[in-house]
Amino acid sequence: MAFTTIAGTGGYLPERVMHNREFESLVNTSDEWIRERTGIKRRHVAADDETTSDMALAAANRAIEAAAINVEDIDLIIVATTTPDKVFPSTACILQRHLGIHNIPAFDVHAACSGFMYGLDIADRFIRTGGASCILFVGAESYSRIIDWNDRSTCVLFGDGAGAVILTAGDEPGILSTHIYADGQYEELLHVPAGVSSGFDLLKSQAAFIQMKGNEIFKKAVSTLGAIAREALAANNLDKHDIDWLVPHQANLRIIRAAAKKLDLPLEKTIITVDEHANTSSASIPLALDVAVRDGRIKRGNLLLLEAFGAGLTWGSALVRY
Ligand code: UT7
Repeated sequence: MAFTTIAGTGGYLPERVMHNREFESLVNTSDEWIRERTGIKRRHVAADDETTSDMALAAANRAIEAAAINVEDIDLIIVATTTPDKVFPSTACILQRHLGIHNIPAFDVHAACSGFMYGLDIADRFIRTGGASCILFVGAESYSRIIDWNDRSTCVLFGDGAGAVILTAGDEPGILSTHIYADGQYEELLHVPAGVSSGFDLLKSQAAFIQMKGNEIFKKAVSTLGAIAREALAANNLDKHDIDWLVPHQANLRIIRAAAKKLDLPLEKTIITVDEHANTSSASIPLALDVAVRDGRIKRGNLLLLEAFGAGLTWGSALVRY
């Protein structure tokens, strides 16, 4: 049986950088409040004509180059996104068209901020069972399109961007294990109420934007991430002190600090991008991974714990030997 290896990473952030101070003229907030409560200093915002698939393409090209593969080697495309270009076809199919490759499967995974963990789980199963041997997996989001720019409790939190990985079949792990969960009873803690089969007529109203009970999510995230980290370690007979790097979903620096503390990991062993990127949902983990691989912190052979928590509610973790 094959194992899944991360052969290369890539990231893309839109050119436009929006600093906290810019929100002070939009809503009743301050740079100090945003930094203290979230750790965010700035975020990137997609241009009006820049789509999720455009960002996915830029990140994908960088990952393809880093993995030193040819586009023709790719035999499956997965895109994790909650902000697709269109209702259909999938953003993965649009990305496939941009890449100019044909006759391979391509599909989207929709698990909000846990999208990268869900997609990684699926990709790993494809590789281990021989269904694919070279997967392009991208997390890409344009949350700026679904933010209510008049709601201070959400508009300061999110950013746009894309992160990509090339996953190949190898003889050694690789991905050691993945663990994904959901509990739909918490649907309304974090959601966009307007949709297609429900609320289509509300797409031009407030219901088309993110609504979140941030405080409740915060508490659940902290306790759940602790439990899922323990589960991932136990599944591999590993100890928290074996972890070289924590690569968490980047929603809030306080959540990340709490997760690191539970693992006895100093913040220096935690990849943090929330200050520069804000919360980019499905894109946040692959973007963080790419930053730390490219700046040399994450090295081959390192043990990584990836973990995420988000709307659904959904959550997940993975232990990866990079
Ligand atoms: O990635 C998907 C999952 N999402 C998350 O993980 C997000 C989790 N939640 C959070 O990160 C935090 O709960 C927030 C950053 C969203 C909020 O921080 P908090 O410390 O939980 O604040 P809070 O919601 O308890 O609000 C405290 C106060 C409230 O005012 P009152 O009622 O005490 O007068 C809010 O109205 O802060 C107010 N507030 C703000 N003030 C200034 C909320 N947003 C802002 C703001 N600027 N932008």
